[in-house]
Amino acid sequence: MNTTIFYFSATGNSLNIARNIADKLGNCELIPTAKAIRNEKISINASRIGIIFPVFAWGMPRIVEEFVNKLSVNNKAYIFAVASCVAIQGNTLKDLKKALRTKGLDLDAAFAVKSARSSLMKLNKLDNIIIKLDQQRLKIKTIEERLPEIINIIKKNDKHKPETSSWTANIFGSMFHGMAVKTFKNIDSDFVIEDSCTTCGNCVKICPRNNIIIIKNRPEFQHNCEFCHACIQWCPNFAIKHPKFDIILKQYHNNAVKVQDMLINT
Ligand SMILES: Cc1cc2nc3c(=O)[nH]c(=O)nc-3n(C[C@H](O)[C@H](O)[C@H](O)COP(=O)(O)O)c2cc1C
Repeated sequence: MNTTIFYFSATGNSLNIARNIADKLGNCELIPTAKAIRNEKISINASRIGIIFPVFAWGMPRIVEEFVNKLSVNNKAYIFAVASCVAIQGNTLKDLKKALRTKGLDLDAAFAVKSARSSLMKLNKLDNIIIKLDQQRLKIKTIEERLPEIINIIKKNDKHKPETSSWTANIFGSMFHGMAVKTFKNIDSDFVIEDSCTTCGNCVKICPRNNIIIIKNRPEFQHNCEFCHACIQWCPNFAIKHPKFDIILKQYHNNAVKVQDMLINT
């Protein structure tokens, strides 16, 4: 059985999950979702399809919504998803199931796994309320802890209901996800390029949205930002900043992923 896994990853957590799963399944192709959405239509012939991505603001990243909209798939394919998050996945996987339904497809199995934090923004009051309310977050496990179980389900093409957070977190998440994601598109207007920028071009090569161009030796953002933090986290000089960053937080990358793995625009 052949599997195609589409992964969207900014700091490497989702890529690491995709690789772990691909390694155990065998006969598996890994495709960056960011590259796939550059086509008008995404046609897939594989008998099994995986969709792996981070949770952004209690829901699906915009890039994943666009990916689903462009899908053209044989509806007999088995589809699974893994959402990587700090702890609060909200209704992300249920939303993905709904989105796939509009394309006549089903999400057969969907898992949420705990990874390290990738957002550098200060948590606001709402974030703190949701974190307090969501007791479910204490139970979420890492891919390393869950890999055998997840592989067992996928290999047998078994059904597994989308995993969600507690109902309180889901209510808040569903209320605010759409609003938050809309603000991300233009959030790059507030990015500050510090003097430590050497115009190495890493950010241009990494951006999943092709949202950065170099003008007069400086990266310029084109206001189609995913706010995934890839450019910020992989900048060798940490030269891209946002005024609302928590200054205590340092750059983060998944240990198993190297910058070369992230250069999708080369
Ligand atoms: C803009 C943004 C919003 C995020 N929102 C959430 C969230 O609502 N819940 C959560 O648990 N994690 C959230 N995270 C954390 C990421 O989902 C998590 O760090 C993920 O593992 C990153 O995956 P990646 O390394 O593949 O990019 C957010 C991260 C970013 C950058």
